[in-house]
Amino acid sequence: MNTENRFSAEQFLTSRRSVRQYQKGLVLSDAELNEILELASRAPSSWNLQHWRYLVVREQANKEKLLKIAFGQQQVADAAAVIIVLGDLEANKVTSKVYEKAAPEIRDLMVKQVDGAYANNPGLARDEAIRNASLAAMQLMLAAKAKGYDTVPMGGYNKDALISEFQIPDRYVPVVMIPIGKAEKEGRATDRLPLEYQVIHERF
Ligand SMILES: Cc1cc2nc3c(=O)[nH]c(=O)nc-3n(C[C@H](O)[C@H](O)[C@H](O)COP(=O)(O)O)c2cc1C
Repeated sequence: MNTENRFSAEQFLTSRRSVRQYQKGLVLSDAELNEILELASRAPSSWNLQHWRYLVVREQANKEKLLKIAFGQQQVADAAAVIIVLGDLEANKVTSKVYEKAAPEIRDLMVKQVDGAYANNPGLARDEAIRNASLAAMQLMLAAKAKGYDTVPMGGYNKDALISEFQIPDRYVPVVMIPIGKAEKEGRATDRLPLEYQVIHERF
């Protein structure tokens, strides 16, 4: 990466802001949506199991349902789309598909290894689902920005109501809700805690 590219990548990362007021009536086409989701899905994941699923909500009536579920946070009704990133609690079931092009003995080894990890570690499935889906969620927000769209990550919603209203199967855990659209009003600038607070060198 040359100096100029590095500068623009840094600018790109520092200029993302959570946007909470969106232009109403904007359409996010299938083509644009798919481009963003393809980029998001380049995120890394444990064993490459791609624990994320995207529940895409674009119909206004469904966005109005989300408005209630998200305690009246208006951005879910006004954004062009709301993408609910789900984590797969049974991602081990995908191993053989992920490794379908591998040699059969490698594939069998991977299936055994992943199933073993999932069977022997209580809590692993949930940790993996949330950890890996979160990586895709962050990448989704950056991909959206690269395509000229704004986003805001949201955890402020009634999870049980979301699951029941949108009939989300037990296999998936809602990780984050992401309205996506174009800003009516820019997001406010936010600060970060100083690095001295955030970083521990070598050991506690
Ligand atoms: C997991 C998570 C949950 C959040 N939930 C909400 C939310 O429910 N509503 C909201 O307006 N912002 C929400 N935010 C956005 C944060 O307030 C925002 O990211 C933070 O203030 C930093 O601002 P920035 O995103 O503009 O850099 C959430 C962010 C994260 C990462």
